[in-house]
Amino acid sequence: MKENEFISNKKYNLIDNGNVSSECPSNIALIKYWGKFEKQIPANASLSYTLSNSFTRTKIDFELKNTFSVSVFLDGVENIKFAEKIEKYFISIEKYVPFILKYSYKIYTKNSFPHSSGIASSASGFGALAICLMKMDELFSQTDDFQTEKTSFLARLGSGSASRSLYKGLVVWGENNSIENSSDLYATLFPFEIEDKIKSFCDSILLVHEGEKKVSSTVGHNLMNNHPFAKQRFLQADENIKKIIPIIKEGNLMEFGNIIESEALTLHAMMMTSSPYFILMQPQTVSVIQKIWEFRNDTKLPIFFTLDAGANVHILYPKSIEELAKNFINKELLVFSQNKKVIHDFVQF
Ligand code: DP6
Repeated sequence: MKENEFISNKKYNLIDNGNVSSECPSNIALIKYWGKFEKQIPANASLSYTLSNSFTRTKIDFELKNTFSVSVFLDGVENIKFAEKIEKYFISIEKYVPFILKYSYKIYTKNSFPHSSGIASSASGFGALAICLMKMDELFSQTDDFQTEKTSFLARLGSGSASRSLYKGLVVWGENNSIENSSDLYATLFPFEIEDKIKSFCDSILLVHEGEKKVSSTVGHNLMNNHPFAKQRFLQADENIKKIIPIIKEGNLMEFGNIIESEALTLHAMMMTSSPYFILMQPQTVSVIQKIWEFRNDTKLPIFFTLDAGANVHILYPKSIEELAKNFINKELLVFSQNKKVIHDFVQF
């Protein structure tokens, strides 16, 4: 679909007040989105697993008013910073949901996971918000043509990675030659055969460091604008998408893990070589990575890591080795976590 197909020309029957609610999971990127152009267009295609236990639940109370306003309550506590962000977001998407500025909103939102845990709350948060907006659209237009593509399109305009959270399983966002119908505007399901082991992945998130991120993703993406290696990196990501397609089909776990780990390290390498430069890993992050490599070398078990733009480590493994992996995490990795915390999550198809 093209951008102008998302512009709404529907007739709406606005109601005075009401509420809508939704739930949306977070996701973890295997092939990373890092670098974007204007209007939230990604510099390369990305691929992610949608999680299950880590989600945002959002309820919106809306009231028809002369003045548009937004208040946000995170875990029951008013959050002015989020309200300002969402207000700007609502203003920016008026073309696509034309009733949006006619209301005053109270938004109540909750994450099932702790703040600053290395789980992207912007992905699940904007995903949940976009679902609520589409529900309002249906309610006012008295149609039931809920489109996941449009929801993903709206979520993307809030946060790029949120576009991927609208689908379960393996999800692609960004145009890529090897994936027909892939789009920069919204995410789509990974369209090829997926071997069973790849469908059964667990993600245990080891909280190495809890606290605010040192680099926001907006600042991080901007660092790719004048980055000396940007062009090469964008090509590499697109190439990795192409390479991973047959690997996913065959279920070649070692090659799968190889691309995922390389993507995580490349993301951090980009931050280390940008201007200004950052190290977002902590010493414990590196220790955990080394332990995973040692364990994998000794046992030949398919256990891998990936990283977000932070210090926490996502440990990825197929369900068939869940018990062994959890024992290893408890015995050998938990010592590297600030508060001995690990969040166990998994992917559903
Ligand atoms: C490292 O989606 O948070 O998690 O579009 O500015 O909201 P904005 O960025 P965001 O960036 C995510 C970056 C990443 C990689 C990924 O999820 O692909």
